[in-house]
Amino acid sequence: MAENADSLKRAAAEKALELVRDGMLLGLGSGTTMRHFTEGVGRLVAGGMRVRGVPTSRETAELAAANGIPIVTELVGDIDLAVDGADEVDRDLNLIKGRGGALFREKIVAAASRRFVVVVDESKLVKQLGAGVLPVEVLPFLWRTTADRLILLGASLTVRGGEEAPYVTDNGNLILDLTFEGGIADPQALATSLKVTIGVVEHGLFVGMTDSCIVAGADGPRMLGRSGSAG
Ligand code: 5RP
Repeated sequence: MAENADSLKRAAAEKALELVRDGMLLGLGSGTTMRHFTEGVGRLVAGGMRVRGVPTSRETAELAAANGIPIVTELVGDIDLAVDGADEVDRDLNLIKGRGGALFREKIVAAASRRFVVVVDESKLVKQLGAGVLPVEVLPFLWRTTADRLILLGASLTVRGGEEAPYVTDNGNLILDLTFEGGIADPQALATSLKVTIGVVEHGLFVGMTDSCIVAGADGPRMLGRSGSAG
């Protein structure tokens, strides 16, 4: 990763650390931006703050443990604040997530949170979602049927990792990476169609879930609300 891109990710993550308060239950997202956040939470814990984390992937669970963050393995009640990265963010703060493969638990954690904050560098901002692939987690045993149904929705797709040695998620499933020519015009309609497609476990469209987005650019991090307003 270019050093500049990583320093922007770090700046966004560090801004999000300002939202963390003593006693919070925190959703800990996955990916390279979130590494900076999780490491920062570790520093807060080392400094005496009492927070607990709900990790969204095995990798984040390991990182959290290595940084001394107490982990919650069974969720009871709401998460106070969930922070996560994203692959694409539109003006309404709808997201594509899951290019790191952790979308299923990431979505559950976001949905269980009182506040869901996304941290990105400005390269992730798009006018319309679908510039890159849309990951969809599917059950392995009928994935070809699922793929056929997804193609009927207008997607072209590939099996992540290839059919010979596919990538397997933390949940034992496969990821199909979908491409929509011309992008995704109506994220909510597509999300609804994906959700009812047989064999789809979860998809990487996060529609109407984000409360705020911290975007880091050359002028420093800024907080966005929906429709591009300052959040
Ligand atoms: C993982 C994700 C990540 O949040 C997304 O891929 C962004 O990753 P990064 O911060 O490394 O750019 O959705 O499933």
